Amino acid sequence: MTIQTIGVVGAGTMGNGIAHVCAKAGFNIILVEVEQRFLDRGIAAITKNLAREVEKAKLTAEHRDAALARIHGTLSRDPLASCQLVIEAASERFEIKQQLFQQLDQLCPPETILASNTSSISITKLAGQTRRPDRVIGMHFFNPVPIMKLVEVIRGLATSDDTYAAVKEAAERLGKTPVEVNDAPGFVSNRVLMPLINEAIYSVMEGVATPEAVDEVFKLGMAHPMGPLTLADFIGLDVCLDIMRVLQEGLGDPKYRPCPLLIKMVDAGWLGRKSGRGFYKYE
Ligand code: CAA
Repeated sequence: MTIQTIGVVGAGTMGNGIAHVCAKAGFNIILVEVEQRFLDRGIAAITKNLAREVEKAKLTAEHRDAALARIHGTLSRDPLASCQLVIEAASERFEIKQQLFQQLDQLCPPETILASNTSSISITKLAGQTRRPDRVIGMHFFNPVPIMKLVEVIRGLATSDDTYAAVKEAAERLGKTPVEVNDAPGFVSNRVLMPLINEAIYSVMEGVATPEAVDEVFKLGMAHPMGPLTLADFIGLDVCLDIMRVLQEGLGDPKYRPCPLLIKMVDAGWLGRKSGRGFYKYE
């Protein structure tokens, strides 16, 4: 099967980044949102990020215009029926994704591959909502999507080799490096990253060091582009907490308990960059 048209469900940070890289790679995009203002915001972000590439001479104005012209924004899910691959990047709530996968399964032809950009929900469980579990897979992109090279490709219990091969090829066409992992809580990325972030928060809570000092240790000592607390603010502290809970529940080991300071900050509405305050303050 040749993939020509890709559906992207959700135009938030991840969804608009995915639509951006897919359109730039020459795929036609159906970008679906639930409200016009979210769609407008997503398209505005893509336009701004493509313009940045033109300014830096990484892309010609002609290519930018062609990429934008390939993106068809809509509030209806019906046009997704014309896609060979649909990438779901909706809110990270199982009930929302469950309903979406059931609907996509009804709407799309049997050969369409249904992928999820989930950072922690079980691909096997999402596949179980459909009559095509062999054609359901995880395509986990990283923020900022136009910059980060990795796509963690997650095979659910029933994902077929053909589905994996098609998604691997599509990820490579995007200029990304796909890495194959099996379905397990947090996959590989968040199973390793979130306990690191959680432990960094314990270090702050226990007075071992300030957030600035913890971040300096990782930036200067381990060459991380951002320290773990800056990264936690960038990801969203609510997202970090949700993922820790998935690890705790799914793996059952007390070492995955979320740090009480993380819980407290989320309770206070200090969610990181998006709320203006996390471990640091933002304008
Ligand atoms: N969209 C597009 N491009 C962006 C961007 C965005 N949102 N933000 C930055 N960039 C580009 C810049 O234009 C710049 O491009 P050039 O190299 O062509 O100049 C490049 O990225 C570097 O940006 P800056 O110079 O402004 O800033 P920086 O050097 O500090 O890099 C960063 C910013 C790329 C975000 C870098 O700090 C970084 O790599 N941070 C770590 C990000 C990370 O770990 N992401 C994964 C998060 S986990 C996740 O997403 C998944 C999950 O499940 C939780």
